Amino acid sequence: MDVVSSIQEMEKVSIELRNRESVIGFVPTMGYLHEGHLSLIDLVREKSDFIILSIFVNPIQFGVGEDLDRYPRDLEQDLSLCRERGVDCVFVPTVDQMYPEDASTYVSEESIGTGLCGQARPTHFRGVTTICAKLFNICRPNFVAFGQKDAQQVVVIKRMVRDLHFPLEILVGPTVREPDGLAMSSRNSYLNEKQRVDAQLIREALFAGQRLVDEKGIRNVDRIKAEVISILSQGRFIRVNYAEIVNRENMLPETEIEPGRSMLVVAVWIDSIRLIDNQPL
Ligand code: PAF
Repeated sequence: MDVVSSIQEMEKVSIELRNRESVIGFVPTMGYLHEGHLSLIDLVREKSDFIILSIFVNPIQFGVGEDLDRYPRDLEQDLSLCRERGVDCVFVPTVDQMYPEDASTYVSEESIGTGLCGQARPTHFRGVTTICAKLFNICRPNFVAFGQKDAQQVVVIKRMVRDLHFPLEILVGPTVREPDGLAMSSRNSYLNEKQRVDAQLIREALFAGQRLVDEKGIRNVDRIKAEVISILSQGRFIRVNYAEIVNRENMLPETEIEPGRSMLVVAVWIDSIRLIDNQPL
């Protein structure tokens, strides 16, 4: 497995691969890899000849006062997981290379990313689309995998890919969960034991919402939201950021639940730790 930190070298590798008509699968990450990331490697492997995984904690997708400085990092462990899982090349650029001091160009999706997480974190998706556009240009993938846990991110990136004509296909892997149901996230490592107990309420609330739709046939958005919020509010440390039912194609609020189209999305604060999750309905 190659570990490449220079942009020029990474571009050389990807251009040569594409010239040889190799199919490149790409998994962009911020590192501190868990089974959710690793399952995305498996997802692109089905379609590709060569797998690139990037590790880059992207400063511009963190807002002022967010967890950029304490974001968990463990490069050695990440590289060994990539090796075991059959990644061909890990791209680990530096912040200085990705954002030279006079960098002044950003990519901004201006509709899907404005609500939900975009409201709580106004510069977040601009950071995500900018770094993804750069990584797509450098790594030249045919297929790129993202996890369904970050549902809004997936829809924002799909829109960017469509609107800016990136010649690649987005693959979406299902949310991978811990045995207790908590969606895997690098940020779970921040949780202490008591906060972790509260975090389990997220899955419970989503399940309860889904059951009301599936088993009781309820289609009223407010009824489901009330149930979800009441379960989340049982947590001692939880503050609900949002609990919404949206159209999964555009992330706009639904007025009535349409099974197959609607998705229940939640974001909570557990003390200072922000976690998100979702459930297609
Ligand atoms: O989902 C993430 O880990 C990040 O938002 C991404 C897509 C790697 C961009 O930094």
